[in-house]
Amino acid sequence: MTGPADIEEILLTQEQIAARVAELARDISRDYAGRAPLLISVLKGAVYFVTDLSRAITIPIALDFMAITSYGSAPAQSGAVRLIKDLDHEITGLHVLLVEDIIDTGLTAGYLLRLLQARSPASLQICTLLDRPRRRILESLPIAYRGFEVPDRFLVGYGLDYREQYRNLPFIGVLKESVLQATAQPAG
Ligand code: IMP
Ligand code: MG
Repeated sequence: MTGPADIEEILLTQEQIAARVAELARDISRDYAGRAPLLISVLKGAVYFVTDLSRAITIPIALDFMAITSYGSAPAQSGAVRLIKDLDHEITGLHVLLVEDIIDTGLTAGYLLRLLQARSPASLQICTLLDRPRRRILESLPIAYRGFEVPDRFLVGYGLDYREQYRNLPFIGVLKESVLQATAQPAG
């Protein structure tokens, strides 16, 4: 079974998320006025966030997606990710805002930034809903917008998954330790 019964604690309610997303959208609308930014989001975790965020932004924007997958089942360990879907359009000369669900070690964002920077955008910054600075390996990421700082506990909901489950929960919660243990397997 996968659902609210597997949740230890609700960390951020639907209302808290919506209120913060509205604030971020207001800041982005102000800062990027006249620049028609391109929001780039990473499938699949950031999809819930970027759809709500972009809907609340009041200036013209464009939206594009990339999909990546980690090598093995330990996403944060090496930052080695493989691009499985590239952007649909060129980004040269555009004001790009990379929209992320959570920045943990920062290795994934670092990889994506290098890849995007090589295409010479006019500017490149990050908007992340969640930030977990305690586990950061890659410092100095250009995080211009952050929703919430979160503790070092495994979170699911509002796009965040555990083995592709729980993304559709409307809140962000801490997954029960028993669920993690019950399904724990050697990486491979
Ligand atoms: P990083 O490369 O360590 O910054 O990892 C970022 C990616 O790891 C995110 O985009 C998520 O897909 C995943 N991730 C990190 N922490 C969590 C979590 O608490 N729950 C679910 N996914 C997570
Ligand atoms: Mg994930």
